[in-house]
Amino acid sequence: MKELLLFLSCVLCVSADPLHSDIAIGGCSESDGENMYGLDGEEIAYADFNKQEFIYPQPPFIDPITVPGGYESSVAFQHSCRENMKLFGKGMKDYPPEQDAPSAVMIYTRDEVEFGEKNTLICHVTGFYPAPVNVSWTKNEQKVTQGSTINVPYPNKDGTFTQISRLQFTPQQGDIYSCAVQHLALTQPLTKIYGTHVKTEPSVHQNMGLTLGLVGVAAGTFFLVKGNECS
Ligand SMILES: *[C@@H]1O[C@H](CO)[C@@H](O)[C@H](O)[C@H]1NC(C)=O
Repeated sequence: MKELLLFLSCVLCVSADPLHSDIAIGGCSESDGENMYGLDGEEIAYADFNKQEFIYPQPPFIDPITVPGGYESSVAFQHSCRENMKLFGKGMKDYPPEQDAPSAVMIYTRDEVEFGEKNTLICHVTGFYPAPVNVSWTKNEQKVTQGSTINVPYPNKDGTFTQISRLQFTPQQGDIYSCAVQHLALTQPLTKIYGTHVKTEPSVHQNMGLTLGLVGVAAGTFFLVKGNECS
């Protein structure tokens, strides 16, 4: 697993009472690499090594921030990072690399849902190490191959990472979406489901099913409330 070890150098600038906090991150593994600048928890610029350019994923209302020569210096960084990784790999070979599965996966929409109106589904994955995760989407159990993007790993204060995958979609009644997260520390993908449906009054029968389902997850108070409804 050593080849997946991600070497990172972070530069955090934080003063005693910071107005803003920026971050520069450079990292590599044998299969991945990242060079990114962030500000206040948002991506400002990153190197896209597939498109071979620096990407500025900023909304149009902020003052543009550019990094001249950003892509070229990222390529140079990746080269030295991989060289250094070989040396670190030798020096650290007796230490097993740390692995933390994602501590939370959340699925939600960017905007309030209006059926028939374009929206974005967000799959927010956090608390994992090392980076990255893979996120795949399904719609009504069919794999979605278009319309999704994922940002580069963003470091958290505790040294773990966050990644956010987005899927353009138009909510229609009854459609069910899922995002499945793969990570080195997971033996099977972590899946979260998002369903768009009209709320109906559950029948007593449905309540019973829900109650039984929840007992397994040790939701004691939920059981009592639902139990009362059923009696
Ligand atoms: C992510 O997907 C790539 C390409 O399919 C694969 O090589 C890699 O092992 C996957 N990573 C994880 C953590 O599952």
